Amino acid sequence: METTKRMMLFPFMAQGHLIPFLQLAQLIERRNGYSITLINTPSNIRNLRSYLPTSSSVHLSSLPFNPSDHGLPPGHESMDSLPFHLLFPLYKATESLRPAFTRFVSDALSLDPTSPLCIIADPYLGWTVDVAEELGVFHAFFVTGSERSTAIYHSLWTLWPLQWSHSDELALPNRPNVRLHRSQVTKLLLYGDDNNPIFVFFCRQIAHFCKSDGVIVNTAEEFERSGVEFLKEESGGMPVWAVGPLLRVPSTPSSDDTHIGWLAGHPPDSVLYVSFGSMNTISASQMVELAMGLEASGTAFMWVIRPPSGFDFKGGFREEWLPEGFEERMREQNRGVLIHGWAPQMEILSHGSTGAFLSHCGWNSVLESLCNGVPIIGWPIAGEQFYNSMMMVEEIGVCVEIARGNGNESVVCREDVERIVRSVMMGGEGEEMRRKAREVGEVLRAAVGEGGASVRAMDDFLRTALPTMA
Ligand code: UDX
Repeated sequence: METTKRMMLFPFMAQGHLIPFLQLAQLIERRNGYSITLINTPSNIRNLRSYLPTSSSVHLSSLPFNPSDHGLPPGHESMDSLPFHLLFPLYKATESLRPAFTRFVSDALSLDPTSPLCIIADPYLGWTVDVAEELGVFHAFFVTGSERSTAIYHSLWTLWPLQWSHSDELALPNRPNVRLHRSQVTKLLLYGDDNNPIFVFFCRQIAHFCKSDGVIVNTAEEFERSGVEFLKEESGGMPVWAVGPLLRVPSTPSSDDTHIGWLAGHPPDSVLYVSFGSMNTISASQMVELAMGLEASGTAFMWVIRPPSGFDFKGGFREEWLPEGFEERMREQNRGVLIHGWAPQMEILSHGSTGAFLSHCGWNSVLESLCNGVPIIGWPIAGEQFYNSMMMVEEIGVCVEIARGNGNESVVCREDVERIVRSVMMGGEGEEMRRKAREVGEVLRAAVGEGGASVRAMDDFLRTALPTMA
């Protein structure tokens, strides 16, 4: 009888990481002979339980973690409420999980020494590579962002001292076609100083990254070939398995669902979906510009709205943050719906009435949009979102940007919103982007379909990580 192979998956505590990790766990679960454990902090494990079907055999295990020990407000390491400015304190806090994680894995090994075990961890939990080495188990990182952005980050951090010396333009070694202007580089990266804790943290993550046995990436090789190649080079030739896109299957639309019901009352491709993901918000003044631009564009829209930057992320919404009477006018004209809180994004994007997505370009949102053939209006805000947006404009041709640069620092005016939304929703440019998005959607779906390249990459990863013993 074949022994059970054990996979321990450990994501970083943010929605954009937990969701693809959950998809990866479920993908491996569909293969026979694997026991899968997803590890996280108690509040995230509670949340994840509601995402898993009751029939799932994926085990969910929590490690003790008290946010207040690390100066984090209660519940703020939880997947539905992590504001961007708490990311760095949380990166640091995760290092305190190392002893409990080591004990967890070593207990599992002692209890059953004959079943092989593999750790799949988030690159932000770089220290897990040392735990795997200490315990003698296979280790892979799972990158939930795009490959191109990951590779750019690596270049920026590892080659820090060479940068910006003579010009405002950065050319990455071996990548003559990738040039970045100083203004396009995320602010985080501009602190190239050994005394800066963010700089030190990222340098350490890169060093950990290169020690792993391999990297799993949430992309399809045919879609992001240059990014995958780039990453292979940057990481010293380690195996890179492109197994994506890993997507949640949308639940069957029900006309009882208010949002889906509203979409169903609109013609095909006529509604603009607006969302800045799970962690980012825009400023109050930008919110007004967006609202005025949407109203002037004449387009129907569905906007997932949160308190503006600088206000409590989980707090109530104040009418004064929007132009006077905006929400009421849009409702009366059946023109726009504001979703306060969490939206059923996959269901909205897969609905035939959704014609474009005004997005912050988080990687999951990009993949979800394109798999559904929906073109993007890019409004990147933070992190690697800018690189995702740039790639969608320059390489893939499925995006037009409303903002470019360091997110909240680039100022968007209502006239730009109106012009760009009109051209994508009503003009020829939008038609062409929609045609390309549908083509790209086919490529992405084929990669994860029967015999597709991502399925073959998954087979290869599983064979390499936990080979069948003779
Ligand atoms: C973070 C980083 O900011 C981003 O740069 C990185 O690429 C991923 O992690 P996040 O806001 O989580 O971004 O964005 P994204 O990757 O798009 O993931 C958000 C996920 O939450 C998506 O799967 C989306 O479908 C889901 N979501 C978000 C909802 O289902 N409903 C919502 O209302 C908001």
